[in-house]
Amino acid sequence: MTKDLVSITDLDRDEFMRLLKKAVQLKDDRKAGRGKPLLKGKILAMIFEKPSLRTRVTFQTGIYDLGGMGIYLAPSDIQVGKRETVADVATNLSRWVHGIMARTFAHSTVTGLALNASVPVINGLSDLEHPCQILADFQTIYEKKSTLEGIKLAYLGDGNNVSHSLLLASGIMGMDMRMAFPKGYEPNLEIVGKAESLASSSNGSILLTNDPKEAVDGVDVIYTDVWASMGQKDEAEERRRVFASYQVNEELVAKADNDFIFMHCLPAIRGEEVTSGVIDGPHSVVFGEAENRLHAQKALMVALMGEG
Ligand code: CP
Ligand code: NVA
Repeated sequence: MTKDLVSITDLDRDEFMRLLKKAVQLKDDRKAGRGKPLLKGKILAMIFEKPSLRTRVTFQTGIYDLGGMGIYLAPSDIQVGKRETVADVATNLSRWVHGIMARTFAHSTVTGLALNASVPVINGLSDLEHPCQILADFQTIYEKKSTLEGIKLAYLGDGNNVSHSLLLASGIMGMDMRMAFPKGYEPNLEIVGKAESLASSSNGSILLTNDPKEAVDGVDVIYTDVWASMGQKDEAEERRRVFASYQVNEELVAKADNDFIFMHCLPAIRGEEVTSGVIDGPHSVVFGEAENRLHAQKALMVALMGEG
């Protein structure tokens, strides 16, 4: 098992599947009131350079559920790389705590923490990737569709952190991923290359297009995210114009499989990337995804911070 989860590619296919099955088991155990303190006395430091609802609450609840404790470090607290170097933050924290979760702007901050910390480092979202989100999403798909292999997933919108981890994870797990984005908002080409190479050895496939209708044709899953991510809010108006035809609405989802599920990492802006009718409609699983953040991250923390 990897020491850190910086990128979703830190997991191979077997490790990924084991984590998802563990997450399902921890979910059942919690609901049956038989959760065990698998991380008794362990401390998780949680560094946030950006706001959060789901990541903050699910990590803090998750470590508490497992018998440990989380320490929330707000953007104004430690100011990684400004008040103190990334390496010094990692080295200090490693003397006190058993794991570090970090939500950052620069991806290099998470890789720097992982390189310098002797304890596990978990990426809780960087500008490049959001691997914990994708663990919870794939748990949700697995629960709903009983498999990941061969699942047709369309992502519509910005070539951002969530789309990058989705591309890579689809490649690892052998999914048929289609991504539609406007010109100029494509995903990172290095990530696309990695995802294609992973897909070629997992029987998966990756299709990139500027046509949203082509992407959603017959798919099992439709996924979208906000058009302007954290740190890009000053571009929001321009992006609303550019992305308008990529909105997930009733007309577009009619082209998907009859049993398609709608996914969104949240927070969502109803009326922009998705209509209320779709996100609050019968195909939407967005709150199940949000719930699974808790279970998937508990499985991850047990794997990384437990005794093995
Ligand atoms: N999906 C997600 O990561 O939500 P938060 O930004 O609220 O943590
Ligand atoms: N792409 C979004 C995801 C939020 C969970 C952002 O980075 O703001």
